[in-house]
Amino acid sequence: MFGADDPIPHTTLGRRADLVLVAPATANVLGKYAGGISDDLLTATLLATRAPVLVAPAMHSEMWEHPAVSENIATLRRRGVTIVEPGSGRLAGGDEGAGRLADPADILTRAAGVLAEAGPLSGRHVLVTAGGTREPIDAVRVITNRSSGKMGYALARQARRLGATVTLITTVSAEPPPGVDTVPVETASDMEEAVMSRAAGSDVIVMAAAVADFRPKRPAAGKSKKQDGPPEILLEATHDFLVDLGETKPTDQVLVGFAAETDDILENATVKLRRKNLDLIVANDVSEPGAGFDVDTNRAVILDPDAGPEEFPLMAKDALALRILERVATKLGDRSDS
Ligand code: CTP
Repeated sequence: MFGADDPIPHTTLGRRADLVLVAPATANVLGKYAGGISDDLLTATLLATRAPVLVAPAMHSEMWEHPAVSENIATLRRRGVTIVEPGSGRLAGGDEGAGRLADPADILTRAAGVLAEAGPLSGRHVLVTAGGTREPIDAVRVITNRSSGKMGYALARQARRLGATVTLITTVSAEPPPGVDTVPVETASDMEEAVMSRAAGSDVIVMAAAVADFRPKRPAAGKSKKQDGPPEILLEATHDFLVDLGETKPTDQVLVGFAAETDDILENATVKLRRKNLDLIVANDVSEPGAGFDVDTNRAVILDPDAGPEEFPLMAKDALALRILERVATKLGDRSDS
């Protein structure tokens, strides 16, 4: 910790930081930083840190356009500092023009992007599926399940945070996490096509979606009418494409399945892990309150063919997603080392 009794607070701060962000950065701070001057805690920290640095300049237009400031910005850029360019608009004292601090949301997005570049999944492509598939009975009715897609969205969000390029194949129309590519799908066979056509280009595939096991064999083209009486719906099996992924996966790909169970969780999940040739399976008891469908928390066990089970307490789906992806990153690292 740093504080009044820390003899070297600037190095303590600099070393602890994963990223240093200066917002707003004045012409004075930029000048000192470019010139290597460190006469206060901020500029000393900037010289002491080895973490990535972002600066978001804010100053009057005349100062922003001054050649001294432009040269300092060019120097900092050359040294690898990320500059979040100011916009134009209302300035201090009621003036208008260039030099207005960038929008705070944009500054945070840039900071998240810089952090992601240093993340353990940087340079990796992660494919995630989310939600329950919808299988048509007729033109207006479907058979579906209670999956909300929240676990898949959490996985996509956290994979992006850890630096991956993420594709989310989803039956849910919720706003995608920032920086994540989404592919909307509806049925098991749509999802199969979307996943299989992207599988070879993926380093990691996480099948968090609840894919229907059965679908109506002959969905009616129009809307079935009530006066025709209760319909008899003949079902047929869908194709379990996680089995195909397991059979064809390249040796350096990490394949993760999910097992939503109500009974004999570990036994059932272990059978799926082996039968589908997975690298990890995340098993959870969906009958337990707080774990499973449409809630923001989950309680799961991760099974790994190469290690003992890892059981997690009830936690936020985002926190669980991070733990799963840390396991995935370790597996990817082990494979590139061997
Ligand atoms: N899965 C799949 N294609 C299917 C069915 C399931 O890719 N047609 C995937 C799911 O996305 C999940 C895993 O297989 O990652 C396990 O799904 P689950 O429904 O738990 O297992 P099933 O093998 O369908 O077995 P059961 O329904 O009998 O529990």
